[in-house]
Amino acid sequence: MRVWLSGSLAFMCWSGVVFADSHPANIETGGSVYRTNCVSCHGMKGRGDGPVAVHLTPPPADLTSQTVKQKNDQDLLKTIREGKPGTSMPAWKSGLSDQQMEDVLAYIRTFGE
Ligand code: HEC
Repeated sequence: MRVWLSGSLAFMCWSGVVFADSHPANIETGGSVYRTNCVSCHGMKGRGDGPVAVHLTPPPADLTSQTVKQKNDQDLLKTIREGKPGTSMPAWKSGLSDQQMEDVLAYIRTFGE
């Protein structure tokens, strides 16, 4: 009994870890989210040079820049989720799922590598 209990407790802890990580960000999904929603402003390579960019003040962020790369995931996800007041960066929380926002973040992390 004791053996069974500690064995299943260990299993529960272990599976908890696995579940917490069961949806790792998917860069491929992120890429299609990006191409659908972000390219027009941020550009194919994330340089902030999409077709709409010339019309925007301030211009879209250069996602390949050190300024952006240095920011942590929480900060960037917040901007993606809530948008950026005073700029044309839209809030995506009603258009994208949390998973899609994490995927698109993983994708933009690949820029400039
Ligand atoms: C209508 C144009 C537009 C679209 C579409 C758009 N963005 Fe932006 N984005 C901007 C602008 C403008 C800024 C703010 C630039 C600044 O801070 O001066 C910005 C800022 C950002 C930042 C913050 C960078 C920083 O320095 O903190 C991230 C991250 C970002 N966008 C990601 C995305 C993602 C991901 C998508 C697609 C889901 C997207 N954007 C779609 C215009 C856009």
